[in-house]
Amino acid sequence: MADARPFHWEYRPDPVPREVFRVEGGRPLAGTVRISGAKNAALKLLAAATLTGERCRFTNVPEIEDVRVMAETLGDLGVVVDHPAHGIYEVAAGDVDWLFVPLEAAAKMRASFILFGPLLSRFGRVIISNPGGDRIGRRPVNLHVDAMRALGAEIEYRNGYYLAKAPGRLRGGEVTFPFVSVMGTENALLAATLAEGRTVIRPAAQEPEVDDLVAFLQKMGAAVERTAPDTIVVEGRRRLRGAEHHVIPDRIEAGTFVVAAAVAGGRVTLEGAPCDYLGSFIETMGQMGVQVACGRDTIEVEGLAPGAGAYRTADVATAPYPGFATDLQPPTSVLMTRCAGTSRLHETIFEDRLEWLGELRKMGAAVAILDSHHAEVTGPGRLRGAEVDISDLRAGASLILGALAADGISTIHGAHHVERGYENIDRKFHDLGARIERLPEQVSSTPS
Ligand code: UD1
Repeated sequence: MADARPFHWEYRPDPVPREVFRVEGGRPLAGTVRISGAKNAALKLLAAATLTGERCRFTNVPEIEDVRVMAETLGDLGVVVDHPAHGIYEVAAGDVDWLFVPLEAAAKMRASFILFGPLLSRFGRVIISNPGGDRIGRRPVNLHVDAMRALGAEIEYRNGYYLAKAPGRLRGGEVTFPFVSVMGTENALLAATLAEGRTVIRPAAQEPEVDDLVAFLQKMGAAVERTAPDTIVVEGRRRLRGAEHHVIPDRIEAGTFVVAAAVAGGRVTLEGAPCDYLGSFIETMGQMGVQVACGRDTIEVEGLAPGAGAYRTADVATAPYPGFATDLQPPTSVLMTRCAGTSRLHETIFEDRLEWLGELRKMGAAVAILDSHHAEVTGPGRLRGAEVDISDLRAGASLILGALAADGISTIHGAHHVERGYENIDRKFHDLGARIERLPEQVSSTPS
């Protein structure tokens, strides 16, 4: 065969361009920012398009690195992915050459595992890298694998790969999770749409991004219904059709900008902002004394000017939707530095989501990390510019917020982590009057 499609047996990570954010803080924000489409919806929608051979079209897709990785991964499988204009992606999965999702994709983005359900269900087999392998860090996918088995898949695990087969078609069944998993729910849901018979998923995640996926699958002709808040029922179909979909706005990006205005001060209007999806978070902002006003699809925030008073403390415990989103816990921690007294954080979902607070401490934050799930932040204190390192997406955005509020200049290493999930974050803050630049690593490390 003359096909020279790239096929990586060995994992060789691509070199990541080393860039930093350089932020001169202490300036209030002012103006309007448009919220992009939701990362956690867009990735699953692109994966869902592999359930049909017909063309699917998506608008309001965020222009972020994770979407590019998903598009590239689909392209490597032989799926046709077009990107005709900003925010528009078209996917046609008529023929798929490779039913293989390599370690390279899993290493770049854990969410590549969302391809497991749709590929297995439509094509009857798939080999997919375990993103929870020791090579990348502890990130379990056992719930996804158990869900596929509950739908009749035969799965072997060899050398870091799941080798999965569906004898004939997958068959509907009871998918019962021990606790709520967002992508676990979505993988089961995607697989069940083409399975034979009825599937009941319980407890099903209630995140708005899951419902966006349900809405798209219904347009494709899938028989999917949320019959109770924590239950999704699917009647499998033989075939699905192509469809069009406008991705819902990103509630996590919106929440990040709400905190930015609160912590740096100033008046900011968020356009295309999903107030309805932010209930718990906005309630907490209200308790802390942040002025937030929700319009039909706008959010207006008025933050206290730097040094002009303090907010009230809060005790934040993360929880699955409709609880307080774990992805908004890191930004909220930054706001706690401007509260009079000690605020408490209880991270109930992930174990590695408080370590980055050590970087915030370098900016002068009074942080006590009590254990892997609990921390305390005491304020009010003025942050000061510092040299810090980004370890992941949400921590990275939060360090930018800290730098915006801080006196002086901050150099934030590891800008690529933020690009994974925030579209043009430096441009958006720049347009709100912030002094922020993205620079190559070596230029910025010379003293300025
Ligand atoms: C999704 C979101 C992420 C968000 C998280 C929780 C995407 C691409 N990512 O991640 O931004 O922070 O929901 O709202 O949508 N778990 C297991 N076994 C599994 C799967 C998960 O033990 O097979 C555990 C996880 O380690 C975690 C908990 O379940 O402790 C919940 O994780 P989950 O809801 O599955 O998160 P993701 O879907 O990966």
